[in-house]
Amino acid sequence: MYYLGIDIGGTGLKAGLVDEAGTIIARKSVPVDAKHPDFDHYLAEELASLTKQLLFENDLSVNDIPYVGIGVPGPCDDKNGLFLFAPNLPVRNMELRRLFQEQLDIPVRLGNDANCAALGEYRVGAGKQYSSMVLITLGTGVGTGIILDGKMWTGCNGVGAEGGHMVVRPGGLECGCGRKGCFEVYASASGLIRMAVEQMRNDKDSLLWSLADGAEENVTGRIVFRAAEEKDPTAEKVLDEYIDVLSEGCLDIINLLQPEVVVLGGGISGASDALLLEPLRERTYGRDMAKYSLPKTTIVKAELGNDAGIIGAAFLGA
Ligand code: BGC
Repeated sequence: MYYLGIDIGGTGLKAGLVDEAGTIIARKSVPVDAKHPDFDHYLAEELASLTKQLLFENDLSVNDIPYVGIGVPGPCDDKNGLFLFAPNLPVRNMELRRLFQEQLDIPVRLGNDANCAALGEYRVGAGKQYSSMVLITLGTGVGTGIILDGKMWTGCNGVGAEGGHMVVRPGGLECGCGRKGCFEVYASASGLIRMAVEQMRNDKDSLLWSLADGAEENVTGRIVFRAAEEKDPTAEKVLDEYIDVLSEGCLDIINLLQPEVVVLGGGISGASDALLLEPLRERTYGRDMAKYSLPKTTIVKAELGNDAGIIGAAFLGA
């Protein structure tokens, strides 16, 4: 038995054929054109075409998979097949299941991308040995997925758990969700890049400039971590601010739920432990309200990298 999962990211669509043990046995990806004038139809066509290609190239047909699982970067309504909204894509009440099935007649399951990543990590990754975990994805946006007593918590309407939109800086910068000061605005890769660019402008000698070939638009999260590794003071200052805000979000989650584990996923989580995990643990554990209780929530890095979302989407109905 095979499953097929697709992860819709801010920059690309990644699909994978997944076996029952949660191993991706074939994969395919394409970039996403977020500016496409007819985004709804375009997206459904791209997703269906990825599915067809992946099946064809592996000598499979729609009869060999029970459904196509799709992880979307925003709230969705699996019951009615709707991709409701995305802070970072032009999506409002998209009838994703119907549009997809116009291209390919097969059941479609929808899930939030971070919830899918949480499911993937819980079944076959960093969450395997726990029964309560919260996954935080640090990518284009910030998403969270909550597993409680072995079950995904998605609220009364399936739209939870949007931890990226907890307010960590009241009155702060505007978020794609319409509020101000959300965790996502500061803890996403885009937030890190924005903070780095702001600080570089005050330090023309920063290593960040040479790593970015002198152009602000070339700054990436990876560059910020590299410059900090080389002890560039501006990059270190940016990371210090970044870890601080990340710690605020982790503390909100820990104080609210006290899960056994908080798992960090998404592109940023690929940074070295010395620059990300260790300072984050230090800043978070000491301020946890349950610091005198045992056991304590541990913070770890995701194990499946970018694959968690694909695997979780594939397992949405399994
Ligand atoms: C959305 C979440 C999503 C996250 C990562 C956020 O902006 O609100 O639903 O999980 O981005 O894509």
